[in-house]
Amino acid sequence: MNAPTRINSALNVRDQFPALGGWHYLDSAATAQKPQAVINAITAAYSCDYATVHRGVYERSASMTDAYERSRAAAARLVGGQPNELVFTRGATEAINLVARTLPKAGRSRVLLSQLEHHSNIVPWQLAGYEVDAVPLTGDGQIDLDAAERMLTEDHRVVALAHVSNVLGSIVDARRAAEIAHAKGALLLLDGCQAVPRLSVDVASIGADFYAFSAHKLYGPTGIGCLWGRADLLASMPPLQGGGAMIDTVSFDDSTFLDPPARFEAGTPHIVGAIGLHAAIEWVEQLSIDAIHAHECALVGETRRALAAIGGVTVYGPDDSAGIVSFNVDGVHPHDTATILDDAGVAVRAGHHCAQPLMRWLGVEATARASFAAHSDSSDIEALVRGIEQVKRVFG
Ligand SMILES: Cc1ncc(COP(=O)(O)O)c(C=O)c1O
Repeated sequence: MNAPTRINSALNVRDQFPALGGWHYLDSAATAQKPQAVINAITAAYSCDYATVHRGVYERSASMTDAYERSRAAAARLVGGQPNELVFTRGATEAINLVARTLPKAGRSRVLLSQLEHHSNIVPWQLAGYEVDAVPLTGDGQIDLDAAERMLTEDHRVVALAHVSNVLGSIVDARRAAEIAHAKGALLLLDGCQAVPRLSVDVASIGADFYAFSAHKLYGPTGIGCLWGRADLLASMPPLQGGGAMIDTVSFDDSTFLDPPARFEAGTPHIVGAIGLHAAIEWVEQLSIDAIHAHECALVGETRRALAAIGGVTVYGPDDSAGIVSFNVDGVHPHDTATILDDAGVAVRAGHHCAQPLMRWLGVEATARASFAAHSDSSDIEALVRGIEQVKRVFG
């Protein structure tokens, strides 16, 4: 418990989240609470600095444009990419849809996913006309990359995997996934929604081709996310939406488009969202993502040990999962578990977590899920354990 104690006591992390109070918020994998620094940046952007970007010739618009582009540079740097490779989207869902809809298929018609994917990394491929294959999981809930290697064919255009599972917290060996994909001439897209808030990411050393994430899981605002893509691939992709800000010339006969990333950002963007995202990135970097990861790993270990000690609780996923613990109290529906926990001031998610194929693989309809953030500490786990003991008392 050294790491959790250190991160909290040295920097008063918990006190920086005004919406927390005494609440035991264990649903950060759904969306993260916001630190005051992010709230302040958003408030200042609307109350002092607000103007549109890219079009105004007046000074405030120019400085808003600078702030918007600085956010792009920070988001690109966060995952080890370049600003011209970073497209702002509404979130990871839109980022994956963008790739599925616009990446030229190059004569290939299949996508290789895994059994644990979020619906956001399944449905877009189906809608875009891909044939979907799903890699099975190992017994402890990791993507079985040996099986992926066997399943991959020259018909697969993309291998698209969650970098970290939103249900099990399992971390895929991303570098090996890239090698496997590239050996068959396929591309690797990583869904980094749960990875970016908890792991240091470097698309260059991974060898990824696309990387998608959402700001709201990274302590930033909703409504904005990012697609990082290799520059040559983005250049090969046509726009998904047309409108202002993405064109070069327009006539009634024809229009021409700007280069990426502007080509993919039609319309007035989420300007203040980008500023909030930048503040969130700076906040995370100031704590250090490695410290957050160590902190959350210690909390996961503590939680898994505590749940095992209660007895009658099934815990899913690998022991070294990143920041997320899914479980079921035997014989109790997870919605009932979550309702009793809510009465005890503990917020967990219960349901299929937008991962119905994974629920089928686990052989359950739903699970309860506790997920951690930089502000979480042992008091949250103690409250969770007390709540689960109450669940067991209520349900006999
Ligand atoms: C692994 C994963 N992928 C994709 C998404 C979709 O993210 P968003 O709803 O922010 O687009 C989520 C959100 O829960 C997620 O956890």
